[in-house]
Amino acid sequence: MTPHRRRTAILISGRGSNMRALIEAARDPAYPAEIALVLSNRPDAPGLSAAREARIATAIVDHKIYAGREEFDRSMQAMLEIHRIELVCLAGFMRLLSPWFVQQWQGRMLNIHPSLLPAYKGLHTHERALADGAREHGCTVHFVVAELDSGPVVLQARVPVLRGDSAQALAARVLAREHEAYVEALRLVAEGHAHNTSGRGDD
Ligand code: GRF
Repeated sequence: MTPHRRRTAILISGRGSNMRALIEAARDPAYPAEIALVLSNRPDAPGLSAAREARIATAIVDHKIYAGREEFDRSMQAMLEIHRIELVCLAGFMRLLSPWFVQQWQGRMLNIHPSLLPAYKGLHTHERALADGAREHGCTVHFVVAELDSGPVVLQARVPVLRGDSAQALAARVLAREHEAYVEALRLVAEGHAHNTSGRGDD
């Protein structure tokens, strides 16, 4: 019997290149997660059309129509439940999540961040790494906790910073590694080989 593939949602706000890498990996029936839903908070996110082309169910939960963060998060939660989602991957999802939502998904929600955390939390990571003269940069896949860009690391991938690098060149080098790192990290979590060891933990 084929083992159960964990039903996974990808949350996006933009171009969705990490989303595409995960969709591609999950085409393999041996991959332990299936992409059951792509959810965007932005109706015009370019990643949505790529998801539709890949015949993945899509949903839009537009944050602009909600009175507050918790109402928005409850609407997303309802959508994830309708689709019987077990794991959530944030992939360029540009909304802060309420502690309530994070709690619902504790140990079951991943994020990818374009730096070697804990260095360079937040935005403009490539510019900041260059400004600091960093020799090494990279990306981190981590479990999501209430605090932004924190939470137990599942894995990191490193790239060298090269002499004369522009932020765009460095971003492209990191992004190529992001795609591999996210595929591998979701595999580890879906197979139960990586756990959230912070807080109560629920699996
Ligand atoms: C990536 O650099 C990711 O690390 C960050 O947002 C960007 C999303 O890119 N969280 P994409 O939409 O996956 O192409």
